[in-house]
Amino acid sequence: MNDSRGFQQVAPEPTAIAAPEGKLGVLLPGLGAVATTFIAGVEAVRRGSASPFGSLTQMATIRLGPRTEKRSPLIRDFVPLAHLDQLAFAAWDVFPDNAYESARKAGVLDRTQVDGLGDFLGTIAPMKAAFDQRYVKKLQGTNVMATRSKRAWADQLIDDIARFKKEQGCDRLVMVWCGSTEVFLQPGAVHQSLAAFEKGLDADDDAIPPSMVYAYAALKSGIPYANGAPNLSADVPALMELADQNEVPICGKDFKTGQTLMKTILAPGFKARMIGIRGWYSTNILGNRDGEVLDDPESFRTKEESKLGVLDFILQPDLYPQLYGDISHVVRINYYPPRGDNKEGWDNIDIFGWLGYPMQIKIDFLCRDSILAAPIVLDLVLFLDLAKRAGMKGIQEWLSFYFKSPMHAPEVYPEHDLFIQLMKLKNTLRHLMGEDQITHLGLEYYD
Ligand SMILES: NC(=O)c1ccc[n+]([C@@H]2O[C@H](COP(=O)([O-])OP(=O)(O)OC[C@H]3O[C@@H](n4cnc5c(N)ncnc54)[C@H](O)[C@@H]3O)[C@@H](O)[C@H]2O)c1
Repeated sequence: MNDSRGFQQVAPEPTAIAAPEGKLGVLLPGLGAVATTFIAGVEAVRRGSASPFGSLTQMATIRLGPRTEKRSPLIRDFVPLAHLDQLAFAAWDVFPDNAYESARKAGVLDRTQVDGLGDFLGTIAPMKAAFDQRYVKKLQGTNVMATRSKRAWADQLIDDIARFKKEQGCDRLVMVWCGSTEVFLQPGAVHQSLAAFEKGLDADDDAIPPSMVYAYAALKSGIPYANGAPNLSADVPALMELADQNEVPICGKDFKTGQTLMKTILAPGFKARMIGIRGWYSTNILGNRDGEVLDDPESFRTKEESKLGVLDFILQPDLYPQLYGDISHVVRINYYPPRGDNKEGWDNIDIFGWLGYPMQIKIDFLCRDSILAAPIVLDLVLFLDLAKRAGMKGIQEWLSFYFKSPMHAPEVYPEHDLFIQLMKLKNTLRHLMGEDQITHLGLEYYD
């Protein structure tokens, strides 16, 4: 059938998606603030003592068809997602603290809330980490694998995964990196193909940090992988080749929370109204373990690259040189222990409007980093599991919504605008279920 412009109209076919039956195992390298806030939150929701605010899979609706049809089901009623009761958890960490002890130390959730969940959290003890201090200089832990050989790390992780799957009777698994930010690394020769990478594992190549070995172990085991930190991890051709070969979905990098979330909400608004920007100064104080790790200049560099990229891609200075061609964009993070996980982020934005008259905006965001990150972990687990059951593989660009540095195909730029990202996410769900895309044209209402 052709439409009035002569374009062929193809009726969408729903994708065959296997039902989310049985247990879904969640594998977490890193059992720190984000991971424990996520696990404790899932358990609190399961017990009916709290609500999953911030999670699209649990709370958001999706509009289907024209507005006149008034169809807006919850996303979780529209697409077949695993239920929270079906989730089981496993983690690795450099420190031996179980999820209860780690949650208490992280200090994100109230003591009474953590104590109330203690019987469950205490059962999640971390497996020994594949770790080398050269990649996270500020950490020194005892719960690490005896071997330093990268091939042996990979084999051990693959065994850990298989054992957990069997012991817990899991039907499917998903891995989300919630480990620390590693030192800055650029892709090199060893990352260019799977063959080169596997040789590098055998030769203990320095350019393969632990996070890449976890990603390798997941992909090799056919398990979807998401990277919550800015280090490269799965974002290299070798691991993309493996994801493709084993038909596994992957996504990353760096959970979009706090200050960068605000940036990707505000910057598209300024650009939409053709308001110019001369400068954007962002500074943070935070006192959690993540802040301590980022106090090392090499780990900070990885984070800085991730945070700085956002504005350029949203504002497109090449298309709007007068408005955005000369922005001074500065990002600082300062480790300040008294704040713990309750980060404070200040932004000073120098903007200009009609005839070039300057204005300023000041933001003081008293935020809770891990409270913003936990629902992201949950959504990634459930959406990656959906993607796998739907036969999707490789980079899942529709999950860019959740990341500061979204992984993307080499021929396109990453999409950072939160609202375009949301449209992409929802349109992907409509596509999977054979529903029409929503274009917001809306002329039909006025015919
Ligand atoms: N909190 C947020 O809002 C947020 C936002 C974006 C990104 N992130 C990133 O998410 C990650 C987790 O953040 P967090 O606040 O939970 O940090 P955290 O320091 O509390 O937890 C990270 C844990 O990872 C462990 N770890 C480090 N290397 C490891 C390895 N090789 N194997 C196993 N465990 C390892 C550490 O021991 C630590 O317990 C960090 O990389 C952070 O930059 C966090």
